[in-house]
Amino acid sequence: MSIQQNLNSIRHPLSNAPEKSPFNAGETLTQQHEKLTVLLLGSGGRECALAWKISLSPRLEKLYIAPGNGGTGAYGENVSISPLDFKAIADFVAEKNVDMIVVGNEDPLVAGIFDYFDGKEGAPVIVGPSKAGAALEGSKDFAKQFMVRHSIPTARYQSFTAETVEEGCKFLETLKAPYVLKADGLAAGKGVLIIDSLDEAKASLREMLGGMFGKSSATVVIEEFLKGIECSVFVLTDGNGGYRILPVAKDYKRIGEGDTGPNTGGMGAVSPVVFADEEFMRKVEERIILPTVNGLIAEGITYRGFIFLGLIEVEGEPMVIEYNVRMGDPETEVVMLRIASDLLPLLEAAGRGNLGDMPLAEDPRFATTVMVVSGGYPGSYAKGEVITGAEDAVNAILFHAGTSRADDGELVTSGGRVIACSAYGKDIDEALANSYAAADTVNFAGKYMRRDIGLDLKKLS
Ligand code: AMP
Ligand code: GLY
Repeated sequence: MSIQQNLNSIRHPLSNAPEKSPFNAGETLTQQHEKLTVLLLGSGGRECALAWKISLSPRLEKLYIAPGNGGTGAYGENVSISPLDFKAIADFVAEKNVDMIVVGNEDPLVAGIFDYFDGKEGAPVIVGPSKAGAALEGSKDFAKQFMVRHSIPTARYQSFTAETVEEGCKFLETLKAPYVLKADGLAAGKGVLIIDSLDEAKASLREMLGGMFGKSSATVVIEEFLKGIECSVFVLTDGNGGYRILPVAKDYKRIGEGDTGPNTGGMGAVSPVVFADEEFMRKVEERIILPTVNGLIAEGITYRGFIFLGLIEVEGEPMVIEYNVRMGDPETEVVMLRIASDLLPLLEAAGRGNLGDMPLAEDPRFATTVMVVSGGYPGSYAKGEVITGAEDAVNAILFHAGTSRADDGELVTSGGRVIACSAYGKDIDEALANSYAAADTVNFAGKYMRRDIGLDLKKLS
């Protein structure tokens, strides 16, 4: 018997109790022994990594990924449904008896997929917050107000609209360069501007409020610039005070080596993170995680899913840069490697609101991922380039992001970030060597990668 089965049999004394309605949160624990049909929403490297991890579960009956990508088909069945088409998702759930939906990306959460299914007869367990909870990512102004209400450490800020643009300019004058301007709403990761000159910052504020990011920048948050090193902390919460902290990761956002050039969706990631030691994580848990989890409950916000804390360490003290309401990408491509436990029962328990004391064990090894991207990304780039070598990589797990299968089954590029080359190692050097060997094996016209993933952390260790 595996450790997990063992714990399940200890922890679920009701296993012979009669079944009640199968889908309500906090319901019978019996279901936690059954096989699950899972629908995972999304199409990136994050979803490929989640699909890989979920596919390893002995509790899995069948995994569908909507819409998935050229790699996710190795772990389940891709279905051509948009994560935003709730009606089509509901029809699919009914047709295939889907027990649980794991929402990979933020858009369906912000659009209210949890609320769409909540309370409906035969609804699946949803891993992801309600629309009110998803506002932690969907509205930066809401997130900042939430942090202030719960005394969670974050940069000093004020929010402005077109009516208050002059006050916004005055507020900028009270801050020191560089100036941080954030579109309130979702802007596909592009809504944060960091500007060195005051005049340019004022001009950008006017442009943002004038519709630079459409409705997303109708409100702009201006905040103090924080100097420090960033890391990503992920929490899986059941909305009833139960939570587990996942392995900590660090991502590399800029396109250029030495963290230069424009922001991307992420060029690589590493876990664990040397500076996120026990003392730092104790502060994170006390000052950030507990007030967040309890603050959501106190405000009556249903939240059963992942909380992503984008943190910055300022002179040893953790501060929140941002909340996201899903896993990070490419952090998931290392975090999944470092979760030793079966993830599926944890997801189910979180989605049902009863994590209890279900363990989440960490793999002690290092994990790294290196993203190979299309030449020109994050600007314009070619699509449809033939990818070779993806089957030949050894000592690595290739999580596809922007790939698809041509009609003849050939693997081709279909996005800027193409494949995340993830690997284990006994230390960071070995993991990086494995990731880079795999990244060198994969080929397509215009391929680019950063060669300095993890080097900043090596200097700290
Ligand atoms: P976000 O889209 O909120 O993740 O912001 C993108 C990136 O901008 C973050 O990962 C940080 O590197 C940077 N950033 C955001 N807010 C601040 C801040 N207040 N001080 C320094 N850097 C920031
Ligand atoms: N890696 C940052 C994000 O997923 O938003």
